[in-house]
Amino acid sequence: MDAKTHWEKVYATKGPDAVSWYRRHLETSIALIERAVPARSTPIIDVGGGESTLVDDLLFRGYTNITVLDISQAAIDVTKSRLRSAADQVHWIVGDITQIELEPRAYDLWHDRAVFHFLTAPDQRAAYVRQVAHSISTFGPEGPSKCSGLRVMRYDAESLHREFGVRFCLVESSTELHRTPFETTQQFLYCYCRID
Ligand SMILES: C[S@@+](CC[C@H](N)C(=O)[O-])C[C@H]1O[C@@H](n2cnc3c(N)ncnc32)[C@H](O)[C@@H]1O
Repeated sequence: MDAKTHWEKVYATKGPDAVSWYRRHLETSIALIERAVPARSTPIIDVGGGESTLVDDLLFRGYTNITVLDISQAAIDVTKSRLRSAADQVHWIVGDITQIELEPRAYDLWHDRAVFHFLTAPDQRAAYVRQVAHSISTFGPEGPSKCSGLRVMRYDAESLHREFGVRFCLVESSTELHRTPFETTQQFLYCYCRID
């Protein structure tokens, strides 16, 4: 099954809070974003945003230039309808981040929570790195080896940073024990990188 079919099926069959990565609010991401880019007009892209409430919370905090990209049309549709008329303030892109052509230098902050680790082929990761600007998070080295039934890569801050190369400066990293809706825990690794 290709990635798009997989993710459309996930979102067609599961509610937003019935997936292991669900959190009511992405507090760690919000804190990192507010620290990294306090200016509310900063162009931000949430890559693989899925049905997460990060976009709601960023709008609530006054961010005015937000793009949400996901491979799944179903996920984007759910998020848009949750936001109702506020959805008009957001740019929406349905596409595969390893293939889509994004506008050059369009974003100052790049957010990824639990997407990069699905790229198990080196050429996919290389394509992703070509697209990235700033910030990324994924499972830590003690995270699960599978997510959503798919095999994932596991990283510590150093090995994740290595994927991106010397242009990216690792500013900070932290791990979080994420409690899933099923009362299990998973280690998430957050890395904040800058290109100066
Ligand atoms: C584990 S979920 C995380 C969702 C969200 N970031 C969160 O933290 O709740 C991974 C998300 O990445 C999306 N995704 C997976 N592969 C992708 C790709 N190649 N391009 C764009 N989105 C992708 C999936 O549709 C899904 O919404």
